Amino acid sequence: MKIPKNAPIGVIDSGVGGLTVAKEILHFLPNETIIYIGDDARCPYGPRSVEEVKEFTMEMATALAKMGVKMLVVACNTATAVTLDMLRERFPFPVLGVIEPGARAAVLASTTGKIAVLGTVGTIKSKAYENAISAISEEVDIIPLACPEFVPLVESGQYKQMDIQPIIKRSLQPIAHLEFDTAILGCTHYPLLHDPIKEQLPVGVKIVSSAYETVRDVESTLSGLGLANISGNRNEPIFYTTGQLDGFTSIAIDWLGIENPDVRHIVLSNPGCQ
Ligand code: DGL
Repeated sequence: MKIPKNAPIGVIDSGVGGLTVAKEILHFLPNETIIYIGDDARCPYGPRSVEEVKEFTMEMATALAKMGVKMLVVACNTATAVTLDMLRERFPFPVLGVIEPGARAAVLASTTGKIAVLGTVGTIKSKAYENAISAISEEVDIIPLACPEFVPLVESGQYKQMDIQPIIKRSLQPIAHLEFDTAILGCTHYPLLHDPIKEQLPVGVKIVSSAYETVRDVESTLSGLGLANISGNRNEPIFYTTGQLDGFTSIAIDWLGIENPDVRHIVLSNPGCQ
């Protein structure tokens, strides 16, 4: 089946975190249309079982496949860590994740070869960053840290309303005495907490998030496959959430700088993922 170049790119996350990747796609690929699904009703994915993350991610991918996307960007580290192979086997369009691009950016940024990885419990448990980084360089020491309190701060919107520094400080305490020169925000929700995280990390530590690197992968994959939209016309992005429209819309306005984003509700059904 021939995929049309002007078809949209599908972007998925457990919630609003993938908007950090959507923002870069909208900025750097001005001809491309995106359709986003955030599974806010079942967020966070981080503490969930691998089976649940697979099932929920499959539901989002299936919904986007029905909408006719030409590519799927799994803008969720937790889902990337455990579903990428399954999705690539199931769908005819290219499926990109966020872990390999983030790992690449961190290895480039680090001069000491000591890299902290902040992520959800699921991502840290999966060792997906360790695997991606050691495939690039064997000279790197990785300091993994699960930060389960961060995603709820973003999804609830509390990060905009209260002083979250004590929570960030407490979460980063286990690595406060360790030496590293680069920290990966290994969860797409974390760039929304970039400033408070930076404040609690040792001075000079470089912070890497995978959003920009992922878009470079999107761009090169589209052009490599002859799928880039060269027509110069794109449609307005559509954002679907399984959760509350208000909360999602307020974060989308704040983060994307779009005055009146098209945010819609979606009910996902279980197509089975075994
Ligand atoms: N933003 C997602 C990630 O990158 C998921 C966070 C969560 O749902 O726990 O891992």
